[in-house]
Amino acid sequence: TALKVETIIDLDTLYDRAFNVLKEAVHNGSKNFGLATGGTMLPLYERIRNSELDFTQCESVNLDEYVGLPKAHPESYISFMKQQLFNEKPFKKSNLPNGEAQDPHEEAARYEALLQKMKLDFQLLGIGENGHIGFNEPGTAFDSETHVVELEESTRIANARFFNSLDEVPTKAITMGISSIMRAEQILLIAVGEKKRTALEALLKGEVTEEIPVTILKKHPNVTVLTDLVI
Ligand code: GLP
Repeated sequence: TALKVETIIDLDTLYDRAFNVLKEAVHNGSKNFGLATGGTMLPLYERIRNSELDFTQCESVNLDEYVGLPKAHPESYISFMKQQLFNEKPFKKSNLPNGEAQDPHEEAARYEALLQKMKLDFQLLGIGENGHIGFNEPGTAFDSETHVVELEESTRIANARFFNSLDEVPTKAITMGISSIMRAEQILLIAVGEKKRTALEALLKGEVTEEIPVTILKKHPNVTVLTDLVI
């Protein structure tokens, strides 16, 4: 496996390193960025906001979006991205699935067509407690393209901390497929906190299996894994 794993216990140091990996990619000419949401990304986006980096000649594509949540809702991924990054660091063009589309399946097809036309130079990834990437839940085919997913109860519970109650967490999402993620030239995966141990252990020590989507990254030639967990 070509995974480049860096274990960094101190979180400030870990996120400085994450920022530097991204900065290097920008300096090396990366133009198309796959972006991620989630608590894990907050300290990284803070560093980008406070940096000199300029993305006005770059394009971004987000991994996923909830279905049925108004775009203006503070927990929609479009709101998250605006608050955390785009308001301060705009891209020439930013793409997210439209969670308010009349027909989410049609929207997934539109998003996939867009992805097919671009080559992602850099993909940022977090990891779900159950090993999901994007919102590709366990059991998703490795050759999957952008699709509508039914969120696992455990995923909704994990994300309920961002909402007033579990009931408010959407039950569906549109996510980039695993094959789209794997097409990226370079991937930076950040796995921080004890809750990610099982998933990370599966990636570092387990077999490649659709039951734990993140394990597919073993087959990618250029993945950096930053973690504060000693496995
Ligand atoms: C979310 C997102 C993922 C994210 C993961 C972990 O549900 N769809 O893209 O990587 O779950 O989130 P967090 O960083 O908040 O732990």
